[in-house]
Amino acid sequence: MQFKDTNEKLTSVMPPPYPGEYPKIAVTPPGPKTKEWNARDRKVVSQNLTPDYELVTERASGMVIEDLDGNRFLDFAAGISTVSTGHCHPEVVRAVQQQAENLMHVCYTDFHYPAYIELCETLAKLAPMPGDKRVFLSNSGAEAVETSIKLARTRTGRSKIIAFYGAFHGRTLGTLTLTASKPVQRRSFGPLLPDIFHTHYSYCYRCPVNRKPDSCDVQCLDLLTDSMFRHTVPPDEVAAVLVEPIQGEGGFIPPHPEFLRRLQSICRENGILLIADEVQCGMGRTGKLFASEHFGLEPDIVILAKGIASGMPISAVIARDEVMKWNDGSHGSTFGGNPLSCQAALATLRLLQGGLTENAGRVGARLIEKLRALKDKHALLGDVRGMGLMIGLEIVADQATREPAPKQRERIVCGAYEKGLLTLPCGKSTIRLSPPLICSDSDADKAVAILDAVIGEVGATS
Ligand SMILES: Cc1ncc(COP(=O)(O)O)c(C=O)c1O
Repeated sequence: MQFKDTNEKLTSVMPPPYPGEYPKIAVTPPGPKTKEWNARDRKVVSQNLTPDYELVTERASGMVIEDLDGNRFLDFAAGISTVSTGHCHPEVVRAVQQQAENLMHVCYTDFHYPAYIELCETLAKLAPMPGDKRVFLSNSGAEAVETSIKLARTRTGRSKIIAFYGAFHGRTLGTLTLTASKPVQRRSFGPLLPDIFHTHYSYCYRCPVNRKPDSCDVQCLDLLTDSMFRHTVPPDEVAAVLVEPIQGEGGFIPPHPEFLRRLQSICRENGILLIADEVQCGMGRTGKLFASEHFGLEPDIVILAKGIASGMPISAVIARDEVMKWNDGSHGSTFGGNPLSCQAALATLRLLQGGLTENAGRVGARLIEKLRALKDKHALLGDVRGMGLMIGLEIVADQATREPAPKQRERIVCGAYEKGLLTLPCGKSTIRLSPPLICSDSDADKAVAILDAVIGEVGATS
């Protein structure tokens, strides 16, 4: 396909416009039908699934989710950063439908099919590290993280893994050990995996070593080298360091620009594999296909899930050719890389490369600027940070003391929902904005207007 200019290129990958006004609140949410279905939920669904606000979805298209009561919401959550091409993008739907008519499952562990191979070829070509690569497909982010840990251990013959405070890597017992986000996610589930250690992430707004980002020398990494390696964890026993290039669940935190490159050097000096968990920050969300690219990071292993297939379940582990070597039959999956998800991923990647990644970078930069301007107006807005359409708003009681304000954060998230904007919380008191990458300037402006109004209302009564 030949494109003349950016706009023409973008037009060809954008879904058709939504046929109607949005957001549009017809009935104060949660409306009666939503309440009725949630009453049924409370009787039969595992009781631990408690959302931040009540939404029961009837259908969704592009940037819009319609609830059972006829409300139309502007979606800045995207199924936790997953629906990268917007809801039910016609090209993704078509790819899945066509595949469903031919082959739904045969199990790649035993019988091969082209879509799996084609997706692995595409991902290997796009991955941010040089040289030959290999790819293993599974179903979820957690499964891919498990895969990467097993691979790192068997390949290096070392057992120890280092991850970061604030990280989220999944909820299976193995990945839960690596996750260090909220105590409730771990409480009562132990004992967890041995030989997993955590150190501090580069969280510049709340620097773990009290430095200023403009003048610091990334001293947060001294906690790894001078404290951990010197006193408790011999580096020659460490198989891998697992890092989110931008922390997601922990608070949408881009690290200091030098943090990841420095971490990479530490890993190389000690024969430690560097694993980039791009499950949330990957697939075009930050304005580049891989967030690692912003930092010159060339990981040994990259993990993808969420946004890779616009909502169809699939995940990928991409590793350097010399890293992905393990015993025949030592790892596998019944559903991993199923044909429908592979086709959804191939269609998604075409759209991301066709202009949506670029769109995320451009719309996101403008959105961040507009949100930063609100800081002068709203004392509750402590920090506005992010890259592309991965944007965190940290809510504080006072901009000077930076005291986290989780209650006000909750009121803002719920207030935005009542006005038709869907967002999600993350970290201790941050709101995450992670819309589909088809988000337009007009969608972004609508979100800013709602947030401006809601933060103002909450601020006035705090
Ligand atoms: C960075 C990161 N890694 C791994 C996971 C786990 O993915 P899944 O929920 O698909 O198992 C998540 C989920 O939020 C994530 O954000």
